Amino acid sequence: MIKATRGTRDLLPPETAQWNFVEAAVRDVFRAYNFQEIRTPIFEATELFARGVGGETDVVSKEMFTWEDKGRAESDKGQSLTLRPENTAGVVRAYIEHKLWDRGLNKLYYIGPQFRRERPQKGRYRQFYQIGAEVIGPASAGSESPARDAEVLTMLAELLDRLGIENWILELNSVGSAGDRARFNDALRTALEPVVGQMCGDCQRRAVTNPLRVFDCKVPADQPIIEKLPRISHFLDEASRQHFDAVQAILTKVGVRFTLNDRLVRGLDYYTRTAFEFTHGALGAQNAILGGGRYDGLAELLGSPQAAPGIGFAIGEDRLVMSLQAKAEPASIQSNPAVYVAPLGEGMNGEAARLARELRRHDVAVELGDEGFRLKKSFEAATRIGAKYILIVGENEVKADVFTLKNLATGEQVSVGRAELAQRLKA
Ligand code: HAM
Repeated sequence: MIKATRGTRDLLPPETAQWNFVEAAVRDVFRAYNFQEIRTPIFEATELFARGVGGETDVVSKEMFTWEDKGRAESDKGQSLTLRPENTAGVVRAYIEHKLWDRGLNKLYYIGPQFRRERPQKGRYRQFYQIGAEVIGPASAGSESPARDAEVLTMLAELLDRLGIENWILELNSVGSAGDRARFNDALRTALEPVVGQMCGDCQRRAVTNPLRVFDCKVPADQPIIEKLPRISHFLDEASRQHFDAVQAILTKVGVRFTLNDRLVRGLDYYTRTAFEFTHGALGAQNAILGGGRYDGLAELLGSPQAAPGIGFAIGEDRLVMSLQAKAEPASIQSNPAVYVAPLGEGMNGEAARLARELRRHDVAVELGDEGFRLKKSFEAATRIGAKYILIVGENEVKADVFTLKNLATGEQVSVGRAELAQRLKA
């Protein structure tokens, strides 16, 4: 038997109804905040992620699905391609490629699969789904304003509330400007120097190449050392501090609750200033339901001729659905067919199909039986799929153009003319 490969899975009904429910709610909320959808390719040049996300991050150094293109055209051959491990780099690439700065402030969202070769466990997959959004544009369009940070965070709080996800925690930090980060990295190098010999191999390398990434270390023995390292909050300059204060002031004003966590540095290199995660208790070890932050230098890093400050987030949709499941059964969201159309007797399949088509045109959900079924089997089938009514299509009904409609829950039975059927079923 061939099975889905490690870290991938099939999403089956009725669970898919929950995914659709989530995505519909997301699109409604995003529309209210004036975001529009962008769809970028699922694979990109490896270089995009190496440069954008950072070569020293776990995502790039350990988790990417990368291959060399064996394309027929000479120009394809040997090109290194990668399944996207995240979507921010792709959006920023598209921003540059299509000169989206001409549109001023871009508010874009995406929903789609991402790929990371992680060790699979509950809430962690190799193919997972993100719902994300990015606000990006020239500084003259207001992209750098703390108002944008606060708006994105408010939208997220609104979305989680609307989905009925309770007890989420917003953890907020500022990881500073590029200048702050440089000073912080220097301080980290100094602090690490006497102790790094006792740390894991990854940390020894990171201490030299990118000390900030030491905070991603999961090795238990290293944690007491990491605990004592300097915190970014002591390295913020006046401008960064003011920006961060302004974000907090707006959040307080609009009533979005948050907690400050100056150990939150996020696992991707592009972040500057505001960084955040929403966590949820029901998720267990993989408790980050979403993460995001500002990335003011990313566009230039990817070759933009002009600065394009930005801020965004990505929700782990798998985890979002899991926290919903902690509350409600998928069945409560799934909408079952309203009516089971049961052809009764030979030659009735065509008549039943015609009637079903008429009803479906009026947006009535219909399941269609088969003339080979006896009445008992039709009733069983109707009950199994959770239909509300069964509609019998026999020779007499067709002749009279009047049909017997039976409510499967109450047993109540009425005769309804063809013309009134759709209205009756929708009522
Ligand atoms: P990230 O923190 O790497 O950020 O991922 C965002 C969310 O995706 C996580 O909080 C988690 O819910 C989900 N996620 C990540 N890896 C997995 C996995 N293996 N299985 C299931 N869910 C997972 C980013 O990806 C950034 N691009 C977010 C962003 C957008 N920052 C600015 N703009």
